[in-house]
Amino acid sequence: MNDVLSRLREMQAGDVPVTGGRTLAYVYDSGLEDADRIGREAVAAYAGSNGLDPTAFPSLLTMENEVVGVAADLLDAPDTAAGTVTSGGTESVLLAVQAARDSRPDIAHPRMVLPVTAHSAFHKAAHYFGVEAVRVGIGEDYRALPDAMAEAIDDRTVLVVASAPSYAHGVVDPVTEIAGAAAARGIRCHVDACIGGWVLPYSARLGRAVPPWTFAVDGVTSMSVDLHKYGYAPKGTSVLLHRTAALRRPQYFASARWHGYTMLNSTMQSTKSGGPLAGAWAVLSSIGDDGYLELTRKVLDGVDRLVAGISAIPALRVVVTPDSTLVTFATDGSCDVFTITDAMTRAGWWVQPQLSFEGGEPTIHLSLSAATADHVEEFLGALGEAVGDAVESGPISVDPGIVEFVGSLDAASLTDEDFDGLLAAVGMAGDGGVGLPESMAEINALLNLAAPELREAMLTAFLDRLQRPTRSRGMWTPSAG
Ligand SMILES: Cc1ncc(COP(=O)(O)O)c(C=O)c1O
Repeated sequence: MNDVLSRLREMQAGDVPVTGGRTLAYVYDSGLEDADRIGREAVAAYAGSNGLDPTAFPSLLTMENEVVGVAADLLDAPDTAAGTVTSGGTESVLLAVQAARDSRPDIAHPRMVLPVTAHSAFHKAAHYFGVEAVRVGIGEDYRALPDAMAEAIDDRTVLVVASAPSYAHGVVDPVTEIAGAAAARGIRCHVDACIGGWVLPYSARLGRAVPPWTFAVDGVTSMSVDLHKYGYAPKGTSVLLHRTAALRRPQYFASARWHGYTMLNSTMQSTKSGGPLAGAWAVLSSIGDDGYLELTRKVLDGVDRLVAGISAIPALRVVVTPDSTLVTFATDGSCDVFTITDAMTRAGWWVQPQLSFEGGEPTIHLSLSAATADHVEEFLGALGEAVGDAVESGPISVDPGIVEFVGSLDAASLTDEDFDGLLAAVGMAGDGGVGLPESMAEINALLNLAAPELREAMLTAFLDRLQRPTRSRGMWTPSAG
């Protein structure tokens, strides 16, 4: 038994750390050891419980209603509001789109209007549910353009989307105008507050300027907020809220058309572990309202110092003043964000490169956690050194022949053999087949030149080759003790 757990811990040591504040994407760290421990214990206690049936597991229903209630309070939801705990931001977005589509069975080819900065989860929803995504450009401040969005609404539109804030730039869209335009046409408006929804209410309470973004805005019909982000809960929970129970109704799925139990689901999963919900309930209870206020004070103070520190590094520029906890920066061209990213990884900091898109420059994204706020100066020291080295080595130069070759590739016509060759050519595969590359800078620089369709295809081919079964009973040798 101990042997199994020590093997697990050994494997996990190769992952990025989820505590300690040095991972600035994917994980959100309160820095509160007690809350983390209570969350983990709650997940373990409910790992085998099944959220499929609230009559068999009434404690899960109690927890869900309490968690949704807290979210409704934070998001200024009216008393009519109803919601669901989902498995994460993507599921909340998927269900918001699915509910909007199914609320309009009269529309054969439904569409949704969204800013180009909306999260990719909406494109996944478009793909899954056959809802056409009508993408609308943004302003120089990286916020959605409400007039252009209003113009894009037509008789087939079932949903209009705004972000609070957007992931890539960290700014809140003009929700009042967007929701107003949707309401004027009787169309649903979803505010995606997956990443900001647990920060912005406290930011406002701390006296910071927060643009309108909640159900207090007329016309907002649904909102998503993730507990596994700034609720600092274990992975696996988000809340999807609707202004009324009637708006939520099409989200439900029921089937009595077989010999077994009547299947009745509010989410995409049917059997679902009670662990994440219990973990979220426990962390929310443990941190409490005052606790989140303090965590928000701490993280936003860290954001201020981070923004000032990055702005003071001559080769760097903060792309836009953030409305919340997400900081995005670019270089002045004297060095590459991809070189900086690798140098930061070597120094023990996990930052996330964002490839250039539709004429925009490549950037680095930082999701700041409360636990990172204590280490901002240390982070800035490491960043200063990484940038110094990157300036010295200069921007990554990609062979012009390769630039031309990549530009000429049509993702749709490439075969599996072509992908094998491409992955090898760009360093994503070696003699031993595809593996995790030591360094990403050159690979990212190349992907940066590729069209989005080619990026998608290459990374999909890469993942496909990574996800191959380990045969010969690898995990059963040596035999578990
Ligand atoms: C604004 C926004 N929406 C949706 C999502 C998707 O959330 P998840 O990764 O939990 O599925 C994210 C994730 O970062 C996000 O920032």
